[in-house]
Amino acid sequence: MPGTGTLRARNHAFWTQAAPGWSRHADRQDEAGRPLGAAAMDWLRPKPGERILDVGCGCGGTTAELAAAAGPGGEAVGVDLAEPMVAAARRRFPRERHPGLRFVTADIETAETVTGAPFDAAFSRMALMSLADPVAGCTTIRRSLRRGGRLAATVFRDGGANPWLPAATLGAAPHVGPLPPLPMGDEPGPFAFADPGRVKRILTAAGFDAVTVQPYDVTMDAPDEGEVVAEWLIEMGPAGAAYRASAPQGRAAARAGAARLFERFREPGAGYRFPAGVWLITAATPS
Ligand SMILES: C[S@@+](CC[C@H](N)C(=O)[O-])C[C@H]1O[C@@H](n2cnc3c(N)ncnc32)[C@H](O)[C@@H]1O
Repeated sequence: MPGTGTLRARNHAFWTQAAPGWSRHADRQDEAGRPLGAAAMDWLRPKPGERILDVGCGCGGTTAELAAAAGPGGEAVGVDLAEPMVAAARRRFPRERHPGLRFVTADIETAETVTGAPFDAAFSRMALMSLADPVAGCTTIRRSLRRGGRLAATVFRDGGANPWLPAATLGAAPHVGPLPPLPMGDEPGPFAFADPGRVKRILTAAGFDAVTVQPYDVTMDAPDEGEVVAEWLIEMGPAGAAYRASAPQGRAAARAGAARLFERFREPGAGYRFPAGVWLITAATPS
């Protein structure tokens, strides 16, 4: 496996190239992606007045949900590595209208704590598996929580439980320019946390207690328009930047290629229904 420095640089470059797509499709991602984090939201149940950290917050939709749950006396802080994601989150949820909501650009692996620590609880949806050094990242999360603080996060299980996930990239790749390196084995990427034993070891090494890892199967619903769904999922993934840089003909072929692979997930009249297998990870800091 490449060294941590190389993996960190790759992770930073990856999310910076993906950010324009995430920003463009942020509303759809909030809506369609909600089931991916629902189990963690339910487990965490932010209480009025609590201060909650959202790790790898992307364009801020889940941070806004956490802030709403924490109420006027509480606060939610979203932290993300990619400045363009944080800029999009601030545009979507301006401070004047969302006083209990703040966004910070930082690498959770290299920060000592997140600005605003200590928090009562930490949430993360589909971000921990991106970490180049997950023990370092989870250690920062633990240090950013108060004693007896709680963590709830979701990550993808393996490729078999998420068969739709590589389809956008596979369908688009022949029609667009070069893609960033695709992850192998445990390298940071969608399936890096597939092994629940590894997840437990990482959280325990980071100093968390009461670590649990439970499977959840959910469905991501998307509209019944192949072109729209294809563009959304291409732009969110490794082919996003190459897709945007392509000529219109290449983009159309990429969308058609992805839509063909998505066909098996289409239910006429109901739209696309993508089965997603996630781990709900819960843990607590020592009290
Ligand atoms: C799959 S996206 C999920 C975004 C959001 N949580 C959601 O579910 O819509 C993963 C996010 O984690 C962020 N991320 C990756 N590595 C990070 C790190 N080391 N520190 C902070 N954020 C990181 C990425 O920039 C990206 O926004």
